[in-house]
Amino acid sequence: MMTEAVKQQTEDVEVPAFDVDSVRAQFPILTETVKNKPLVYLDSAASSQKPVAVIDAIADYYRHSHANVHRGVHTLSERATDAYEGARQRVCEFVNAASTSEIVFVRGASEAINLVANSFGAAFVKAGDCVLVTEMEHHSNIVPWQMLCQCNNARLLVAPMLNNGELDLDAYRNLLQSSPKIVAMTHVSNALGTVNPVRQLTEWAHDAGAYVLIDGAQAAPHMPIDVRVIDCDFYVFSGHKCYAPTGIGALYGRETLLEQMPPWQGGGEMIREVTFEHTEYNVLPFKFEAGTPNISGAVGLHAAIDFMYDIGLDSINEHERALLELASLRAAERPWLRVIGTAGDKAGVLSFVVDGVHSNDIGMMLDADGFAVRTGHHCAMPVMQHYQLPGTIRASLGVYNTHQEIDNLFSSLDRIRDLFV
Ligand code: ALA
Repeated sequence: MMTEAVKQQTEDVEVPAFDVDSVRAQFPILTETVKNKPLVYLDSAASSQKPVAVIDAIADYYRHSHANVHRGVHTLSERATDAYEGARQRVCEFVNAASTSEIVFVRGASEAINLVANSFGAAFVKAGDCVLVTEMEHHSNIVPWQMLCQCNNARLLVAPMLNNGELDLDAYRNLLQSSPKIVAMTHVSNALGTVNPVRQLTEWAHDAGAYVLIDGAQAAPHMPIDVRVIDCDFYVFSGHKCYAPTGIGALYGRETLLEQMPPWQGGGEMIREVTFEHTEYNVLPFKFEAGTPNISGAVGLHAAIDFMYDIGLDSINEHERALLELASLRAAERPWLRVIGTAGDKAGVLSFVVDGVHSNDIGMMLDADGFAVRTGHHCAMPVMQHYQLPGTIRASLGVYNTHQEIDNLFSSLDRIRDLFV
């Protein structure tokens, strides 16, 4: 239970000026009740909720502008094309790419990684080569590389992490001596919240002659992204974790590399000329966008980025860091609760276990109190294997979460835990 000392410490945590109430008012779903309790949504790492600006942008698009893109001379097709290409321009700014030719729309981070593993893999990864990933990757940044290695008789190397969830930098540098063709690593771990020093890791990888792909699925919602500062070759993210709809995301790829890579999927849009003997492919980025794209998803992503810009990426980062600091403090006050992942730099995620109680039981009991958290392996089984755990309870943050919600989560955990002792 919360002691006087604990309450006192809540007051001691510095709360930055941030109008969370006005942010919350933009998310209709946050007024839902769950099991007759107010919803407390702490599962944004799985998927964020959507502000009214995004919901309205999609509805407006379908009400006033929908047609297929790049194909018609008629007005609606022009409107749809402008909306779709406007979204690409916005994503280009969001990651600070040099040109929209470097932005490929995809379904999400998983599809982007599969695209690179297949296309870059076909052009650059030969028998006997190796690919380096890290122990803290999401399955989406392991399995496509594993499939590539099996197909091309290449080797998958794994850079281990330390027990606090940080990458083992010495081991990483040693593995770079094997001259991997590509290093694929996460910017922020979805299971632990670890923020990797991707700029430094990229520099070391480049010094070793490797290309670099960064999985930014858990970074893009929480911090400004600059692919030119990181200097990575590929950066991927999903829209739905950044307040945009599901089924849209983006791949940033260095133009000179994308030019050398073959298309991944064939179909309409990615061609310039087709005969039965030969197909001439379209220019970037269309070479990688076969078929009718997710136009409304791109429109929603544009609106979601505008929503984040309106608040300010730095303000979002600062607000969420304060929430995570409070959550970490609350966790540290409870000796029966063990935080999994205690890296020096973390974002968005508090993963923990309660000794003696199964994570799923806690998750279900929290749901009965209105809290949405994710439990289990979080699609990062190797992370769980590292800690020899079947899973953790993960509270993950969005711009709409409040300090009160964090305190309420821990009060609910206190009550649940009391039922087991
Ligand atoms: N990758 C998502 C998560 O971490 C689904 O929950």
